[in-house]
Amino acid sequence: MQKKWWMTTNIYQIYLRSFNDSNNDGIGDLLGVAEKLSYLKSIGIETIWISPHYDSPMDDNGYDVRDFYSVSSDYGDIKSFKQLIEKARELDMKVLVDLVLNHTSDEHEWFKIAKDPTHPLHHKYHDYYIWQKGKRDADGLMIRPTRWISWFGGPTWDYNEATDEYYLHIFSKKMPDLNWRNEDMKNDMKKIIKYWIDLGIDGFRVDAANHLEKNWDFPDGLPGYENFSSLPKHHEYIKELALELFEPYNLLTLGESGGATKEEVRKYVGFNSHEFNLLIHFGHCWADTGYTEPAITGKWSKTELRVTDIKKSYDHQYQVVGNEGFNLIYWHNHDQPRVVSHYGNTEKYWEKSAKMLAMTLYFMPGTAIVYQGEEIGMTNVLYDDISDFRDVEVFTEYNNMLNNGATKEKALQAIVDRSRDNARTPMQWNSSINGGFSKAEPWIKTNYNYKTINVENQEYDENSILNTYRFILKHRIADAKNIVFGKIEFINIDDNESYCYINKGKDKDYLLIANFRDYEIEISLKDVSLRGFEYFYGDRVSLKETMNLKPYEAILYRRNKA
Ligand code: GLC
Ligand code: CA
Repeated sequence: MQKKWWMTTNIYQIYLRSFNDSNNDGIGDLLGVAEKLSYLKSIGIETIWISPHYDSPMDDNGYDVRDFYSVSSDYGDIKSFKQLIEKARELDMKVLVDLVLNHTSDEHEWFKIAKDPTHPLHHKYHDYYIWQKGKRDADGLMIRPTRWISWFGGPTWDYNEATDEYYLHIFSKKMPDLNWRNEDMKNDMKKIIKYWIDLGIDGFRVDAANHLEKNWDFPDGLPGYENFSSLPKHHEYIKELALELFEPYNLLTLGESGGATKEEVRKYVGFNSHEFNLLIHFGHCWADTGYTEPAITGKWSKTELRVTDIKKSYDHQYQVVGNEGFNLIYWHNHDQPRVVSHYGNTEKYWEKSAKMLAMTLYFMPGTAIVYQGEEIGMTNVLYDDISDFRDVEVFTEYNNMLNNGATKEKALQAIVDRSRDNARTPMQWNSSINGGFSKAEPWIKTNYNYKTINVENQEYDENSILNTYRFILKHRIADAKNIVFGKIEFINIDDNESYCYINKGKDKDYLLIANFRDYEIEISLKDVSLRGFEYFYGDRVSLKETMNLKPYEAILYRRNKA
């Protein structure tokens, strides 16, 4: 395998709006990020990925881009963008930006022209988007072209009176989908990509990558996802960008694609397939979804945690990728609840479970992404009013739940457990007002627990969650040849309480044993050769064939290869 710089870097995902506010207007910004780069470097981070920084009306916090060539005034300007890049260079750090290819904002110039038949350039830009005429129902009334459901809950089609057509949007109605079959649009996108490359970025996280192609026969379907997800042609678009831009400029690309099949995973990240470098997959993110309330479905539903699902999802990725590509590990991002609330325990075992989660994940092979605030064990929000939420998705889905017969309490509970806003509250830096994020009232309420959970509180405590992350993140790079490039074998993969594996490296093996439950468990290691393993990190328990682990206990052993 040819080694690349991005295999031995730890990535940190920054949700710009909520990371650090440098000018005290309540919104995180680019200079705020620059101020904190040395903190990130100090915990073992060498690469940052920032969420969309482009000009946007912020219907979906920047994933709705109004102008790809300018920086949102919420976040700064082109000068502050350059300053961030410079600061990163000084610290020998890399910067990835989000690249939104699937849609624009409905306020983007292209869409404004596309929907206006009187505009002289209408014809050209109309075809940058996806349009269909309405249908007639039995009573002759006009209805939408299909019943497809958007990822944010409502219909995927909205009406444009001026052209008497519907436009397609698989996310919010303010995010019309682009037509990737249009060569002019594609070329305009390439220019945009080149523009940011020239400004010195080191790579892209490619948003919603598997949705670029649509089924142009527009068959009806409910919800109809198969007509706008993972259609074969989207690989061609990615490959074209990879060959012309991503690879010649030696960029790191993280492609976002849920539910990829084996063949697809290999296409995305195969060293010889020229698409992405790393794949953001989601199998491990929803190991506790499940039907409990008829009105609360899909990712909003919640049942017992299936630890086996987490292990099996990662195991599957490792097997599928094999030696033909490289793996990516992460707990969660800005679209999922906080991992300590989700898979850990925020009551009696907050600190213990957060450290256990860090140990289980970050001794596995692959490139790692840490999500902002994860390193201090930030938790889900505990809002008791729907109006505290900010995410565009929340309101449609909340109403859907009520319309389907959920009680207000149950619907609110589902939102509290699952909402993307859980991961989007301001970063908790210290115990001063708003957790030190901003002196002004933040755009979204700070988590009530900022006085106890914050960076400053944990900085000088050798055993804090923060210092656990610091040790692990640095160590995984220092011993990359054995950890990052290791080969993992899960132990007792069908066991629903424990998380155990051996990561076999070049000259050392690591054995990790962890308890995912809030009660004591027994683990049998009788089928594992334990010879040579010595205690290395975590709770100090000596290694035996049968281990009794306390709630959320995690231990790491290591051995030198003979
Ligand atoms: C991706 C992003 C998500 C966004 C969506 C639409 O899934 O991670 O935050 O809402 O794409 O751009
Ligand atoms: Ca600001």
